[in-house]
Amino acid sequence: MEKLVSLAKRRGFVFQSSEIYGGLGSVWDYGPLGVELKANIKARWWRSLVHERDDIEGLDAAILMHPKVWEASGHVAGFTDPLVDCKHCKNRFRADDPRIKGTPGEPDAQCPVCGSKGTLTAPRLFNLMFKTFMGPVEEAAAQVYLRPETAQGIYVNYLNVLQASRQRIPFGIAQIGKAFRNEITPGNFTFRTREFEQMEMQFFVKPGADDEWFEFWREERMTWVRGLGLRPDKLRFHRHAGTELAHYAKDAYDIQYEFPFGWNEFEGIHNRTDFDLSRHQQFSGKKLEYLDPATNERFIPFVVETSAGADRTALAVLCDAYHEEEVAGETRVVLRLHPALAPLKVAVLPLVNKDGMPEFSRGVFDALRKRFPTFYDDSGSIGRRYRRQDEAGTPFAVTVDGQSVAGDGTVTVRDRDTLRQDRVAADQVAGYLDERLRG
Ligand code: GAP
Repeated sequence: MEKLVSLAKRRGFVFQSSEIYGGLGSVWDYGPLGVELKANIKARWWRSLVHERDDIEGLDAAILMHPKVWEASGHVAGFTDPLVDCKHCKNRFRADDPRIKGTPGEPDAQCPVCGSKGTLTAPRLFNLMFKTFMGPVEEAAAQVYLRPETAQGIYVNYLNVLQASRQRIPFGIAQIGKAFRNEITPGNFTFRTREFEQMEMQFFVKPGADDEWFEFWREERMTWVRGLGLRPDKLRFHRHAGTELAHYAKDAYDIQYEFPFGWNEFEGIHNRTDFDLSRHQQFSGKKLEYLDPATNERFIPFVVETSAGADRTALAVLCDAYHEEEVAGETRVVLRLHPALAPLKVAVLPLVNKDGMPEFSRGVFDALRKRFPTFYDDSGSIGRRYRRQDEAGTPFAVTVDGQSVAGDGTVTVRDRDTLRQDRVAADQVAGYLDERLRG
């Protein structure tokens, strides 16, 4: 992980938030390459669900919602972690922190930080939602929450979307957006953070059809995840045991990736039953039933949810792509990113900065940048420039050399993974790349 975190910073994938002030705990910023990587993942997700299917609609709901939403959803009462405090050193821990010896609240318990005995309080429930105030005067203003999941914005809009889109059940609503949780034990780089992005899809079905749709979406999501190029032996399902199930779920599977710090979830598929819609009907007093036009039946739909973290998916992609290998006695660090996810598709490099090569290269660059995210680099030795692009995960590098300028107008195209170099006519490079990037 240390090597990946260092590469992520060096190459501009991920920076610590507010770094010049010492950073803000478990909040991260995406740099020039990171923002492209995450955007590519999100666009791929959106395309596969919203554009390539005709039974799913898109939505972009606000982060701030009516506070009653979170009472109805169960988050005010139930979205909590049990915490203990040390009365001596004032540190706070999760009650199940494995470093705690003994029973918190009892005289035998020892603080894992200061070592004092008998100073830990009994566990107390701590809500993970961030609160803020809406309105100009803090005392009189309404207390609102930053959403801890994007799903609720979909539930409260489901009838609006249904009517506006003229969909019929079964149908789904997809949304990508920020969510916030005041996590107590964040960590592992961007794996568990306090501000993160979710890609969530809620699929509304007739009660009784939920198990079948649950199985359908479980398979679909694994297929999509494999399509990101993640190694299949690093992927697995984990089914939630009864005690692990969230308060809304009847059945749930995580899709886990074997991160350097162990197997962990980056996406979940949940059968949320009619829990959320029934509760919103109850708390809002508005009917949220669906009238089936074919049978005239009224029912509250069941919901099958697929919920992925954009940041965790990006982290899995980065971990999977990171490779070190020996080439000609040197260690080469390379990100073997799926070409569709790579922030840059091609770099254009004049072999040297003279003899007409920069001018020729600029021409190639101007033509390519209209088609692909392209990078121009003329600083440093060609070897160093290749290494920079390997670390950025750029699948191809086009080099303009003496032969390009003086001879036949061809350039070399270097493949990041095989290191093979093909000579291609400069005016055919775009077509060549198009084919290789698609394949
Ligand atoms: N709407 C259901 C829901 O929110 P979840 O399992 O709590 O379910 C879904 O979260 C996904 O959101 C997780 O699989 C993970 O990828 C991402 N996620 C949740 N908490 C996160 C955090 N603190 N930091 C980064 N990603 C997080």
